[in-house]
Amino acid sequence: MRAVIHDRYGPPEVLRVGDAAMPVPKADEVLVRVHASTVTRGDAMRVRSTEYRFSRLFTGIRRPRQTVAGTEFAGRIEDIGAAVTRFHPGDEVFGVEGGAHAEYVTVRETGVIAPRPATLTREEAAAVPDGSLLALSCLQPANPLRGKSVLVYGAAGSIGTAAVQLLAHHFEAGVTAVCDTKDLDLVRSLGAHDVLDRFAEDFTRNGKTYDVIFDAVGKHSFRRCRRSLKTGGVFITVDLGYMYHVPLLALATRFAGEKRAALGIGRYRQEDLLLVKELVEAGKYRPVIDRSYDLDEVVEATRYVESGQKTGNVVLRITSGR
Ligand SMILES: NC(=O)c1ccc[n+]([C@@H]2O[C@H](COP(=O)([O-])OP(=O)(O)OC[C@H]3O[C@@H](n4cnc5c(N)ncnc54)[C@H](OP(=O)(O)O)[C@@H]3O)[C@@H](O)[C@H]2O)c1
Repeated sequence: MRAVIHDRYGPPEVLRVGDAAMPVPKADEVLVRVHASTVTRGDAMRVRSTEYRFSRLFTGIRRPRQTVAGTEFAGRIEDIGAAVTRFHPGDEVFGVEGGAHAEYVTVRETGVIAPRPATLTREEAAAVPDGSLLALSCLQPANPLRGKSVLVYGAAGSIGTAAVQLLAHHFEAGVTAVCDTKDLDLVRSLGAHDVLDRFAEDFTRNGKTYDVIFDAVGKHSFRRCRRSLKTGGVFITVDLGYMYHVPLLALATRFAGEKRAALGIGRYRQEDLLLVKELVEAGKYRPVIDRSYDLDEVVEATRYVESGQKTGNVVLRITSGR
């Protein structure tokens, strides 16, 4: 089968489209013909893997252990293992599985997979899981969120666009979104109650305070955001570069001080995917797609994602047809 081969670390150019062994589903797995995927920031980070070298402990020290790239998928079930009961050949599905930049991927029935929302195309569905599941899990340190005032910094990214919608329509929080001038209307249309242009206004100096500040792009710091937090408020960052000191800061601020810092730990969970599917079908969540590329353009797509400038998600078309 055709797949994006990722067998060494480096710039996006190390990726190539080539042949990979066709996966065979085990008893508890389904075989999905992948029609669409995305290039996520996580995918781009794994390719280069220089910024966060510690991540190589998980992805392979000298070379990537997983030699087919990709994370999110949407497609159609082609075959099922003998013990699979929830899915059938022909079902349209979406989800998260390593190796999704390929014509086929196998996924455990109990893994992060769900029926594709009837209201979305395959390309749209592929752009749902990563941002929404990461936003849901990263926001956990601030639960319960109902009625709270939440500022989302980096609101136009994949995690940011997801967080704004989940906070406004699912958690019923008051949302202030901070983004680039060009994305103000988009972010407002996602449900933000207030939007701030990060180039026109420094939210840390306007005198307003929030119960939660969610840095969805990992560019701020607890120190700078502290004065914009209400007493008892929490600052959450997604920046894994903070891995070294946020846990210590989190511990220190938990027991001392009136404002807390927390590291948002992203997790992919099937129950969260099922929740987001329901929100999509209820019209409370929609994927934001910036650009779409063909599989052969994966290097260009990865370069764009690596720029850190994308709005929402970047789709990768894997196969066409039924
Ligand atoms: N904690 C975890 O478990 C976990 C898991 C996966 C990913 N992550 C991290 O999460 C972060 C966000 O991922 P993502 O996919 O949502 O990112 P993304 O979609 O690539 O974010 C792009 C957005 O960030 C904005 N941005 C860029 N630089 C900015 C700055 N200095 N200040 C404010 N906004 C800025 C851009 O706006 P402009 O157009 O204005 O530049 C763009 O809208 C990444 O850093 C990734 O490493 C964390």
